[in-house]
Amino acid sequence: MKSILIQLDTDPQPSVFDRVVAIDAGIDHLFAYGGVTPETVESLVHGAIFTRGVTDLSQTAIFVGGSDVMAGERVFAAVQQAFFGPMRVSVMMDSNGSNTTAAAAVLRARRHVSLSGTVAVVLGGTGPVGQRAAELLALEGAEVRLGSRSQERAAATCATISARLPESRLVPVSTADPDSIPATLAGASTVIAAGATGVQLVSVEARSGAADLQVAIDLNAVPPLGIEGVEMTDKAVDRNGVACYGAIGVGGTKMKIHTAALKRLFDGSEGVLDNEAIYRIGESLES
Ligand SMILES: NC(=O)c1ccc[n+]([C@@H]2O[C@H](COP(=O)([O-])OP(=O)(O)OC[C@H]3O[C@@H](n4cnc5c(N)ncnc54)[C@H](OP(=O)(O)O)[C@@H]3O)[C@@H](O)[C@H]2O)c1
Repeated sequence: MKSILIQLDTDPQPSVFDRVVAIDAGIDHLFAYGGVTPETVESLVHGAIFTRGVTDLSQTAIFVGGSDVMAGERVFAAVQQAFFGPMRVSVMMDSNGSNTTAAAAVLRARRHVSLSGTVAVVLGGTGPVGQRAAELLALEGAEVRLGSRSQERAAATCATISARLPESRLVPVSTADPDSIPATLAGASTVIAAGATGVQLVSVEARSGAADLQVAIDLNAVPPLGIEGVEMTDKAVDRNGVACYGAIGVGGTKMKIHTAALKRLFDGSEGVLDNEAIYRIGESLES
């Protein structure tokens, strides 16, 4: 039975990046659809679930992607709502690389720090990648300081994560004033900068005062970079005792997780690969 991946992309043109990864993951046939909305998803899902016998549905799967992560979340939910009983296929959501990037960043941090019980900072924590990274750090038992230019947005994002992880310890932090960064980093073992492209969030001075910092990960690949002094190709580069990663340094791990998650879709028909599930797949690659 040939494997078929149905790529549902919320952008008008389905992502070339996601298509290349799918082919490299060994998918036999890739059907890519663009401009997918929750309203148009049902017939696409029915096409997937009504063609093959129930036992063969493990060889059909759905990938939800696109640049708009919120739109992707809505399509991901609509796909699952279109399933019923055994009429389902496995589905993965990775709009804008958000889940695989967050998983890669946290897994890389975990190589250097035992996160449980430590303080981890996520700057740009209200964006799709930052929010997911914060959730994974909280899952690991870290106390997470979640930074935003807006205290309200930071608090709202913390509340969203806390609703999913009631035991988590999340502290919203306003980083509107660059002078707030040293205090935000004080006592932290880990910082993940997940701000928008081309925005510097941490200066060399702010970082050099963070005496407890063990890992600094910057996901922004567009200069100026998010953490001054961390190069985009850094991969566990020791800079004054801090293991540093840039966006490209994390990229290899992200690609491995993306590929492994696509393969995992075909292990059965009930897989729902969301942020945590994708993280767990990444974790399994570490051992
Ligand atoms: N390496 C990879 O494979 C990979 C994959 C995907 C994404 N990325 C990178 O990961 C980073 C995060 O992605 P994302 O999609 O979550 O980013 P995003 O939504 O564009 O931005 C994240 C947050 O940055 C803050 N921000 C925006 N403009 C700002 C400014 N001028 N000054 C300070 N803060 C600002 C915003 O938070 P507030 O408004 O709340 O302050 C926003 O929520 C990006 O740099 C992206 O390029 C890397």
